[in-house]
Parts: sequence; structure tokens; C-alpha cells
Amino acid sequence: MPTTASPNRPLHPRRSRVCYVFLVILTLIFIIAVGFLITWLVTKPKKLHYSLENASVQNFNLTDDNHMSATFKLTIQSHNPNHRISVYYNSVEIYVKFKDQTLAFDTMEPFHQPRMNVTQIDDTLVAQNVAVSKSNGKDLRDQHSLGKIELEVYVKAKVRFKVAVWKSSHRTAHIKCSHATVYLSQSNKSLNSSCEADI
Ligand SMILES: *[C@@H]1O[C@H](CO)[C@@H](O)[C@H](O)[C@H]1NC(C)=O
Ligand SMILES: *[C@@H]1O[C@H](CO)[C@@H](O)[C@H](O)[C@H]1NC(C)=O
Ligand SMILES: *[C@@H]1O[C@H](CO)[C@@H](O)[C@H](O)[C@H]1NC(C)=O
Ligand SMILES: *[C@@H]1O[C@H](CO)[C@@H](O)[C@H](O)[C@H]1NC(C)=O
Ligand SMILES: *[C@@H]1O[C@H](CO)[C@@H](O)[C@H](O)[C@H]1NC(C)=O
Repeated sequence: MPTTASPNRPLHPRRSRVCYVFLVILTLIFIIAVGFLITWLVTKPKKLHYSLENASVQNFNLTDDNHMSATFKLTIQSHNPNHRISVYYNSVEIYVKFKDQTLAFDTMEPFHQPRMNVTQIDDTLVAQNVAVSKSNGKDLRDQHSLGKIELEVYVKAKVRFKVAVWKSSHRTAHIKCSHATVYLSQSNKSLNSSCEADI
């Protein structure tokens, strides 16, 4: 039998080492991917949901030179539908805006929202002699005379997620409740508007 073209000749040793390293890397990537998939399946992250449940304006006063004062009472509902993820809220900032202008601002104490939890966030924001533009002043006056004002409530918060003992890094959550119709004092109509969240 001719022995010149032995089919069992081993591969070039350097090539086989490269092959081996490549295989190890592929296996590692595969294991990491499966790990992520399992974590994902076990935690099944669901979107956090926010809505503006209640809002009212009191002590509304708009002077002739367009300086506004008012007290806004808000109830924002935060819903964490996740079975295994809890949420830490740090440095929560709440803004009440009319069109492009911020009328009132407040910060809230940090809090932790457990799994499968609905939390009501009540806050009172005060606008004190805030200068508004001429056209916004006119729109505010018009809407006020109809007994309701269309505002935007904007919440900016630093959040962290916790799964078992693992905590994620900080992310900034932007929560926007646009076109919130807020009724004037004494009105107890509850509004229920869903907010957009970008986390
Ligand atoms: C509205 O504010 C102005 C200036 O602060 C004050 O003079 C006026 O009395 C206020 N009006 C009401 C109804 O509170
Ligand atoms: C949600 O969590 C807050 C804060 O821990 C707690 O006070 C509240 O009772 C919880 N609500 C529900 C419905 O579990
Ligand atoms: C909304 O706010 C008003 C006034 O603060 C209150 O009387 C009413 O019970 C609140 N409604 C809800 C659903 O929280
Ligand atoms: C609003 O409050 C008044 C008394 O404060 C009550 O008679 C009325 O039923 C309430 N309306 C609603 C929609 O809850
Ligand atoms: C608010 O509306 C959502 C759907 O639009 C509904 O599922 C929820 O029960 C409502 N909440 C209240 C307090 O009316």
C-alpha cells in the first residue's frame, strides 16, 4: 500500500491550536448566551406602568402681567408587574409644565418598590409667582375660565433594578403624562391617564 498520502496524518499543530482556541471561545459565547436566556426566562421582565390617577389645581392666580401662582395636587400610580424584579427609585424629580414652560417642581424621597406592587405617589407642588409667556398666559386664562387646565406632568428619576441579590446600575427614567386635564379646586373628578415611560 502506498504510504505517501496517509489520510490519518495529523493537522499542522499550530492550526489545531488555533482551532482549539476558537472552539473554546465559541463554547464560552454559547454558555454566556444561554445564561442570559435563562435569566431572561426566569425574571421575564415586564414594563413598569405609570398613570396619573388624580390631579387638581388650587389657589390659582394669574396676574395681569402674567405671573402665576397655584397649588397642584397630584397622585401618580406606579405599577411594578414583575414577579422577581423590584425597583429602587432615587432622586425623583416631578415637574408640572404648561406647554413649554415649567410651572412647578418638586423632589421626592427615594423609595423602594417591591415586586408585584402598586404604589400611589402623592405630591403637592406649588407655583409661586412664576413668569409665563404672554401667549401661555392667555391660554391659561382661557382654560381656567372653562374650569380645567391641560398640563403635562413629567417625572425624572434614577432607578435601579434588583433581581434576588443582583442590583443593576443606575438608569434614568423619563415618565411623561401628557395632556393631563386638571380640574379646578373642589372638583373631585378623578382622571386616569396613562403615562409614557422611557427607562
Ligand atoms: C393674586 O396675586 C396678586 C399678586 O401676588 C395679589 O395682589 C392678588 O391679591 C392675588 N389675587 C388673589 C385672588 O389671590
Ligand atoms: C407597595 O409597596 C409599598 C412600599 O413598600 C407598601 O407600602 C404598599 O403597601 C405596597 N402595596 C401593595 C398593594 O402591596
Ligand atoms: C382625588 O383628589 C380629590 C381631592 O384631593 C380627593 O377628594 C379624591 O378622593 C381623589 N380621588 C382619588 C381616586 O384618589
Ligand atoms: C364630589 O364631592 C361631592 C361632595 O364633596 C359629592 O357630593 C360628589 O358625589 C362627588 N363626586 C364624585 C364624582 O365623586
Ligand atoms: C385606569 O384605566 C385603565 C385602562 O385604561 C384601567 O385598567 C384602570 O383600572 C383604571 N383605573 C382607575 C382607577 O380607574
